[in-house]
Amino acid sequence: MNILHDKDADLKHLDGKTVAIIGYGSQGSAQALCLRDSGVQTIIGETPELGGKPNPSWALAAEHGFTVYEIDKAAAAADIIHILLPDEHHGRVYREKIEQHMSEGKTLCCSHGFNIVYGQILPPENIDVIMVAPKSPATEERKAYLAGFGVPGLVAVRRDFTGGARSTAMALAKAMGFTKAGVLECTFEQETYEDLFGEQNVLCGGMVDLMKYGFEVLTEAGYPAEMAYFEVLHELKLIVDLVYERGISGMNAVISNTAEWGEYVNGPRIIDQSVKQRMKESLKAIEDGCFAERWIEESKNGCRELLARRRALAGHPIEVVGEKIRNMFEHV
Ligand code: NAI
Ligand code: MG
Repeated sequence: MNILHDKDADLKHLDGKTVAIIGYGSQGSAQALCLRDSGVQTIIGETPELGGKPNPSWALAAEHGFTVYEIDKAAAAADIIHILLPDEHHGRVYREKIEQHMSEGKTLCCSHGFNIVYGQILPPENIDVIMVAPKSPATEERKAYLAGFGVPGLVAVRRDFTGGARSTAMALAKAMGFTKAGVLECTFEQETYEDLFGEQNVLCGGMVDLMKYGFEVLTEAGYPAEMAYFEVLHELKLIVDLVYERGISGMNAVISNTAEWGEYVNGPRIIDQSVKQRMKESLKAIEDGCFAERWIEESKNGCRELLARRRALAGHPIEVVGEKIRNMFEHV
Protein backbone atom coordinates (compact mmCIF):
# COMPACT_ATOMS: atom_id res chain seq x y z
CA MET A 1 0.00 0.00 0.00
CA ASN A 2 1.04 3.55 -0.69
CA ILE A 3 1.86 5.51 2.47
CA LEU A 4 1.21 9.24 2.14
CA HIS A 5 3.08 11.95 4.03
CA ASP A 6 3.10 15.75 4.45
CA LYS A 7 4.39 16.29 0.90
CA ASP A 8 1.33 14.53 -0.52
CA ALA A 9 -1.13 17.00 1.03
CA ASP A 10 -1.69 20.73 0.80
CA LEU A 11 -3.53 22.86 3.36
CA LYS A 12 -4.40 25.36 0.62
CA HIS A 13 -7.38 23.14 -0.25
CA LEU A 14 -8.96 24.29 3.02
CA ASP A 15 -8.39 28.01 2.34
CA GLY A 16 -11.60 29.97 2.78
CA LYS A 17 -13.44 26.82 3.90
CA THR A 18 -15.25 26.39 7.21
CA VAL A 19 -15.22 22.98 8.87
CA ALA A 20 -18.12 22.10 11.19
CA ILE A 21 -17.23 19.39 13.69
CA ILE A 22 -20.54 17.79 14.63
CA GLY A 23 -20.15 16.34 18.14
CA TYR A 24 -17.52 17.61 20.55
CA GLY A 25 -16.73 14.29 22.24
CA SER A 26 -13.54 12.21 22.25
CA GLN A 27 -12.72 12.54 18.56
CA GLY A 28 -14.58 15.81 17.99
CA SER A 29 -12.60 17.71 20.60
CA ALA A 30 -9.22 16.28 19.58
CA GLN A 31 -9.79 16.83 15.86
CA ALA A 32 -11.29 20.32 16.27
CA LEU A 33 -8.40 21.50 18.43
CA CYS A 34 -5.81 20.15 15.96
CA LEU A 35 -7.62 21.70 12.98
CA ARG A 36 -7.81 25.09 14.69
CA ASP A 37 -4.15 24.95 15.73
CA SER A 38 -3.31 24.29 12.06
CA GLY A 39 -5.14 27.46 11.05
CA VAL A 40 -8.34 25.86 9.74
CA GLN A 41 -11.57 27.81 10.30
CA THR A 42 -13.44 25.43 12.64
CA ILE A 43 -16.88 25.67 14.26
CA ILE A 44 -18.74 23.18 16.42
CA GLY A 45 -22.24 21.73 15.98
CA GLU A 46 -23.68 20.33 19.19
CA THR A 47 -26.90 19.61 21.05
CA PRO A 48 -27.50 21.94 24.01
CA GLU A 49 -29.28 19.24 26.01
CA LEU A 50 -28.95 15.44 26.08
CA GLY A 51 -31.41 13.27 28.00
CA GLY A 52 -32.99 16.36 29.57
CA LYS A 53 -29.72 17.66 31.01
CA PRO A 54 -27.30 20.32 29.74
CA ASN A 55 -24.79 18.66 27.39
CA PRO A 56 -21.30 19.00 28.90
CA SER A 57 -19.73 18.74 25.41
CA TRP A 58 -21.39 22.01 24.42
CA ALA A 59 -19.95 23.77 27.48
CA LEU A 60 -16.52 22.24 26.91
CA ALA A 61 -16.36 23.40 23.30
CA ALA A 62 -17.33 26.92 24.39
CA GLU A 63 -14.75 26.82 27.18
CA HIS A 64 -12.14 25.84 24.57
CA GLY A 65 -12.99 29.05 22.72
CA PHE A 66 -15.02 27.61 19.82
CA THR A 67 -18.20 29.13 18.47
CA VAL A 68 -20.81 26.47 19.18
CA TYR A 69 -23.99 26.22 17.12
CA GLU A 70 -26.93 23.87 17.15
CA ILE A 71 -26.17 21.09 14.67
CA ASP A 72 -28.45 22.34 11.87
CA LYS A 73 -26.99 25.87 12.09
CA ALA A 74 -23.43 24.55 11.99
CA ALA A 75 -24.25 22.35 8.99
CA ALA A 76 -25.78 25.34 7.22
CA ALA A 77 -22.78 27.58 7.94
CA ALA A 78 -19.98 25.16 6.97
CA ASP A 79 -18.48 23.89 3.72
CA ILE A 80 -17.15 20.67 5.26
CA ILE A 81 -19.46 18.85 7.67
CA HIS A 82 -17.51 16.32 9.72
CA ILE A 83 -19.79 14.05 11.76
CA LEU A 84 -18.15 12.85 14.97
CA LEU A 85 -21.18 11.68 16.93
CA PRO A 86 -21.44 8.15 18.33
CA ASP A 87 -22.04 5.97 15.26
CA GLU A 88 -25.48 4.80 16.35
CA HIS A 89 -26.79 8.40 16.22
CA HIS A 90 -25.37 9.48 12.83
CA GLY A 91 -28.34 8.33 10.73
CA ARG A 92 -31.08 10.03 12.73
CA VAL A 93 -29.16 13.26 13.34
CA TYR A 94 -28.15 13.41 9.67
CA ARG A 95 -31.74 13.00 8.48
CA GLU A 96 -33.19 15.46 11.01
CA LYS A 97 -30.57 18.20 11.09
CA ILE A 98 -27.93 17.92 8.40
CA GLU A 99 -29.37 16.51 5.18
CA GLN A 100 -31.27 19.69 4.19
CA HIS A 101 -28.06 21.71 4.43
CA MET A 102 -25.94 19.45 2.20
CA SER A 103 -26.16 21.76 -0.80
CA GLU A 104 -24.22 21.29 -4.04
CA GLY A 105 -20.45 21.12 -3.71
CA LYS A 106 -20.30 20.70 0.07
CA THR A 107 -18.31 17.93 1.72
CA LEU A 108 -19.60 15.30 4.13
CA CYS A 109 -16.86 13.72 6.23
CA CYS A 110 -16.66 11.05 8.92
CA SER A 111 -14.02 9.09 10.84
CA HIS A 112 -15.69 5.69 10.52
CA GLY A 113 -17.59 4.48 7.47
CA PHE A 114 -20.30 2.44 9.23
CA ASN A 115 -23.27 4.67 8.42
CA ILE A 116 -22.37 5.23 4.80
CA VAL A 117 -21.50 1.59 4.14
CA TYR A 118 -24.64 0.22 5.82
CA GLY A 119 -26.94 2.82 4.25
CA GLN A 120 -27.91 4.76 7.38
CA ILE A 121 -26.78 7.95 5.64
CA LEU A 122 -27.74 8.36 1.98
CA PRO A 123 -25.89 11.44 0.78
CA PRO A 124 -27.07 13.35 -2.32
CA GLU A 125 -25.24 12.92 -5.64
CA ASN A 126 -23.95 16.49 -5.80
CA ILE A 127 -21.65 16.57 -2.78
CA ASP A 128 -18.26 15.08 -1.88
CA VAL A 129 -18.21 12.24 0.65
CA ILE A 130 -14.92 11.48 2.35
CA MET A 131 -13.44 9.82 5.40
CA VAL A 132 -10.50 10.99 7.48
CA ALA A 133 -9.87 8.58 10.32
CA PRO A 134 -7.17 8.41 12.96
CA LYS A 135 -5.90 4.94 13.76
CA SER A 136 -5.71 5.86 17.42
CA PRO A 137 -7.75 6.84 20.45
CA ALA A 138 -8.43 10.58 20.64
CA THR A 139 -6.18 11.24 23.65
CA GLU A 140 -3.12 9.87 21.86
CA GLU A 141 -4.02 11.82 18.73
CA ARG A 142 -4.01 15.18 20.52
CA LYS A 143 -0.89 14.32 22.52
CA ALA A 144 1.01 13.38 19.34
CA TYR A 145 -0.11 16.57 17.58
CA LEU A 146 1.03 18.74 20.50
CA ALA A 147 4.38 16.94 20.45
CA GLY A 148 4.77 18.17 16.85
CA PHE A 149 3.94 14.81 15.33
CA GLY A 150 0.74 12.87 14.66
CA VAL A 151 -0.87 9.44 14.71
CA PRO A 152 -1.34 7.31 11.57
CA GLY A 153 -4.58 7.82 9.69
CA LEU A 154 -6.76 6.58 6.86
CA VAL A 155 -8.40 8.57 4.10
CA ALA A 156 -11.11 7.41 1.72
CA VAL A 157 -13.21 9.01 -0.99
CA ARG A 158 -16.74 7.70 -1.47
CA ARG A 159 -18.00 10.36 -3.84
CA ASP A 160 -16.01 12.97 -5.72
CA PHE A 161 -18.52 15.43 -7.10
CA THR A 162 -16.26 18.49 -7.14
CA GLY A 163 -13.12 16.74 -8.37
CA GLY A 164 -11.36 17.90 -5.22
CA ALA A 165 -12.57 15.32 -2.68
CA ARG A 166 -9.22 13.58 -2.31
CA SER A 167 -7.33 16.87 -1.91
CA THR A 168 -9.78 17.94 0.79
CA ALA A 169 -9.40 14.64 2.65
CA MET A 170 -5.60 14.79 2.47
CA ALA A 171 -5.57 18.43 3.62
CA LEU A 172 -7.71 17.53 6.65
CA ALA A 173 -5.40 14.61 7.41
CA LYS A 174 -2.41 16.95 7.23
CA ALA A 175 -4.06 19.56 9.44
CA MET A 176 -4.63 16.88 12.09
CA GLY A 177 -1.02 15.70 11.92
CA PHE A 178 -1.79 12.28 10.40
CA THR A 179 0.44 12.80 7.36
CA LYS A 180 3.43 13.26 9.71
CA ALA A 181 3.03 9.65 10.87
CA GLY A 182 1.69 8.36 7.53
CA VAL A 183 -1.70 8.02 5.88
CA LEU A 184 -3.11 4.99 4.05
CA GLU A 185 -5.65 5.43 1.30
CA CYS A 186 -8.49 2.90 1.36
CA THR A 187 -12.16 2.40 0.55
CA PHE A 188 -15.04 2.99 2.96
CA GLU A 189 -15.70 -0.76 2.99
CA GLN A 190 -12.10 -1.66 3.83
CA GLU A 191 -12.02 0.75 6.78
CA THR A 192 -15.43 -0.25 8.10
CA TYR A 193 -15.05 -4.01 7.76
CA GLU A 194 -11.49 -4.12 9.08
CA ASP A 195 -12.29 -1.82 11.98
CA LEU A 196 -15.30 -3.90 13.04
CA PHE A 197 -13.38 -7.15 12.57
CA GLY A 198 -10.43 -5.96 14.63
CA GLU A 199 -12.47 -4.67 17.53
CA GLN A 200 -14.77 -7.71 17.67
CA ASN A 201 -12.22 -10.47 17.24
CA VAL A 202 -8.88 -9.31 18.59
CA LEU A 203 -8.74 -5.92 20.27
CA CYS A 204 -11.89 -5.80 22.42
CA GLY A 205 -13.88 -8.97 21.79
CA GLY A 206 -11.25 -11.72 21.91
CA MET A 207 -8.74 -10.04 24.15
CA VAL A 208 -11.25 -9.27 26.91
CA ASP A 209 -12.58 -12.83 26.92
CA LEU A 210 -9.08 -14.26 26.96
CA MET A 211 -8.26 -12.21 30.08
CA LYS A 212 -11.55 -13.09 31.77
CA TYR A 213 -11.14 -16.83 31.18
CA GLY A 214 -7.55 -16.72 32.38
CA PHE A 215 -8.62 -14.90 35.54
CA GLU A 216 -11.56 -17.25 36.15
CA VAL A 217 -9.49 -20.42 35.71
CA LEU A 218 -6.84 -19.23 38.16
CA THR A 219 -9.23 -17.93 40.84
CA GLU A 220 -11.60 -20.91 40.56
CA ALA A 221 -8.55 -23.13 41.20
CA GLY A 222 -7.94 -21.19 44.41
CA TYR A 223 -5.19 -18.80 43.32
CA PRO A 224 -5.39 -15.28 44.84
CA ALA A 225 -7.40 -12.84 42.71
CA GLU A 226 -4.80 -10.09 43.07
CA MET A 227 -2.06 -12.32 41.65
CA ALA A 228 -4.36 -13.51 38.86
CA TYR A 229 -5.10 -9.89 37.94
CA PHE A 230 -1.40 -9.08 37.58
CA GLU A 231 -0.77 -12.29 35.65
CA VAL A 232 -3.46 -12.04 32.98
CA LEU A 233 -4.31 -8.34 32.72
CA HIS A 234 -1.61 -6.05 34.04
CA GLU A 235 1.23 -7.96 32.35
CA LEU A 236 -0.66 -8.13 29.07
CA LYS A 237 0.01 -4.44 28.54
CA LEU A 238 3.72 -4.93 29.11
CA ILE A 239 3.83 -7.78 26.59
CA VAL A 240 1.81 -5.84 24.01
CA ASP A 241 4.14 -2.86 24.44
CA LEU A 242 7.07 -5.14 23.60
CA VAL A 243 5.31 -6.57 20.53
CA TYR A 244 4.43 -3.02 19.43
CA GLU A 245 8.04 -1.89 19.74
CA ARG A 246 9.92 -4.99 18.55
CA GLY A 247 7.53 -7.38 16.82
CA ILE A 248 6.59 -10.85 18.11
CA SER A 249 10.08 -12.33 17.71
CA GLY A 250 11.51 -9.26 19.41
CA MET A 251 9.15 -9.81 22.35
CA ASN A 252 10.12 -13.49 22.43
CA ALA A 253 13.77 -12.49 22.60
CA VAL A 254 13.09 -10.59 25.84
CA ILE A 255 10.90 -13.10 27.67
CA SER A 256 12.38 -16.28 29.16
CA ASN A 257 12.98 -19.36 27.01
CA THR A 258 10.45 -21.12 29.23
CA ALA A 259 7.79 -18.55 28.35
CA GLU A 260 8.67 -18.76 24.66
CA TRP A 261 8.48 -22.58 24.70
CA GLY A 262 5.10 -22.39 26.46
CA GLU A 263 3.88 -19.98 23.80
CA TYR A 264 4.78 -22.39 20.99
CA VAL A 265 3.40 -25.58 22.53
CA ASN A 266 0.31 -24.29 24.34
CA GLY A 267 -0.78 -21.14 22.46
CA PRO A 268 -2.13 -22.95 19.37
CA ARG A 269 -4.00 -25.43 21.64
CA ILE A 270 -5.83 -22.55 23.35
CA ILE A 271 -6.43 -20.37 20.29
CA ASP A 272 -6.90 -23.17 17.78
CA GLN A 273 -8.21 -23.55 14.22
CA SER A 274 -11.81 -23.45 15.46
CA VAL A 275 -11.19 -19.88 16.66
CA LYS A 276 -9.90 -19.00 13.20
CA GLN A 277 -12.98 -20.57 11.65
CA ARG A 278 -15.27 -18.47 13.87
CA MET A 279 -13.24 -15.37 12.97
CA LYS A 280 -14.01 -16.13 9.32
CA GLU A 281 -17.70 -16.38 10.17
CA SER A 282 -17.45 -13.07 12.02
CA LEU A 283 -15.87 -11.42 8.97
CA LYS A 284 -18.68 -12.73 6.81
CA ALA A 285 -21.34 -11.38 9.20
CA ILE A 286 -19.63 -7.98 9.00
CA GLU A 287 -19.37 -8.03 5.20
CA ASP A 288 -22.93 -9.20 4.58
CA GLY A 289 -24.44 -6.65 6.99
CA CYS A 290 -25.79 -9.14 9.60
CA PHE A 291 -23.75 -7.66 12.42
CA ALA A 292 -24.73 -4.10 11.44
CA GLU A 293 -28.40 -5.02 11.27
CA ARG A 294 -28.34 -6.41 14.80
CA TRP A 295 -26.44 -3.40 16.19
CA ILE A 296 -28.76 -0.89 14.47
CA GLU A 297 -31.76 -2.77 15.91
CA GLU A 298 -30.17 -2.77 19.38
CA SER A 299 -29.54 0.99 19.26
CA LYS A 300 -33.14 1.57 18.13
CA ASN A 301 -34.25 -0.33 21.24
CA GLY A 302 -32.34 2.09 23.45
CA CYS A 303 -29.29 -0.22 23.74
CA ARG A 304 -30.99 -2.26 26.48
CA GLU A 305 -28.83 -5.34 26.02
CA LEU A 306 -25.67 -3.24 25.80
CA LEU A 307 -26.50 -1.53 29.09
CA ALA A 308 -27.32 -4.84 30.80
CA ARG A 309 -24.03 -6.34 29.64
CA ARG A 310 -22.13 -3.24 30.76
CA ARG A 311 -23.62 -3.61 34.26
CA ALA A 312 -22.83 -7.34 34.37
CA LEU A 313 -19.20 -6.75 33.42
CA ALA A 314 -18.79 -4.14 36.15
CA GLY A 315 -19.62 -6.86 38.69
CA HIS A 316 -17.10 -9.40 37.33
CA PRO A 317 -14.39 -10.16 39.92
CA ILE A 318 -11.61 -9.11 37.50
CA GLU A 319 -13.16 -5.64 37.45
CA VAL A 320 -13.78 -5.50 41.19
CA VAL A 321 -10.28 -6.59 42.15
CA GLY A 322 -8.80 -4.52 39.34
CA GLU A 323 -10.26 -1.31 40.66
CA LYS A 324 -8.93 -2.06 44.13
CA ILE A 325 -5.46 -2.83 42.78
CA ARG A 326 -5.27 0.21 40.52
CA ASN A 327 -6.14 2.42 43.49
CA MET A 328 -3.51 0.76 45.69
CA PHE A 329 -0.70 0.90 43.16
CA GLU A 330 -0.78 4.50 41.98
CA HIS A 331 1.38 3.89 38.95
CA VAL A 332 0.37 0.46 37.75
P1 NAI B 1 -18.38 10.30 21.65
O1 NAI B 1 -19.02 9.13 22.32
O2 NAI B 1 -17.25 10.95 22.35
O3 NAI B 1 -19.57 11.34 21.36
C1 NAI B 1 -19.41 12.55 20.68
C2 NAI B 1 -20.47 13.57 21.07
O4 NAI B 1 -21.73 13.21 20.53
C3 NAI B 1 -20.73 13.70 22.56
O5 NAI B 1 -19.80 14.58 23.13
C4 NAI B 1 -22.16 14.23 22.63
O6 NAI B 1 -22.20 15.65 22.76
C5 NAI B 1 -22.75 13.85 21.28
N1 NAI B 1 -23.88 12.92 21.45
C6 NAI B 1 -23.92 11.80 22.21
N2 NAI B 1 -25.15 11.23 22.13
C7 NAI B 1 -25.88 11.99 21.29
C8 NAI B 1 -27.22 11.94 20.82
N3 NAI B 1 -28.04 10.97 21.21
N4 NAI B 1 -27.63 12.91 19.97
C9 NAI B 1 -26.81 13.92 19.59
N5 NAI B 1 -25.53 14.03 20.03
C10 NAI B 1 -25.07 13.08 20.86
O7 NAI B 1 -17.94 9.85 20.16
P2 NAI B 1 -16.50 9.36 19.68
O8 NAI B 1 -16.06 8.15 20.42
O9 NAI B 1 -15.60 10.54 19.61
O10 NAI B 1 -16.83 8.87 18.19
C11 NAI B 1 -17.10 9.78 17.15
C12 NAI B 1 -16.79 9.15 15.81
O11 NAI B 1 -15.39 8.92 15.70
C13 NAI B 1 -17.46 7.80 15.56
O12 NAI B 1 -17.81 7.75 14.20
C14 NAI B 1 -16.36 6.81 15.86
O13 NAI B 1 -16.50 5.57 15.18
C15 NAI B 1 -15.15 7.56 15.34
N6 NAI B 1 -13.87 7.14 15.93
C16 NAI B 1 -13.71 7.18 17.29
C17 NAI B 1 -12.51 6.84 17.88
C18 NAI B 1 -12.29 7.05 19.36
O14 NAI B 1 -11.14 7.06 19.78
N7 NAI B 1 -13.31 7.23 20.19
C19 NAI B 1 -11.37 6.35 17.05
C20 NAI B 1 -11.62 6.42 15.61
C21 NAI B 1 -12.84 6.79 15.11
MG1 MG C 1 -10.94 0.78 15.37
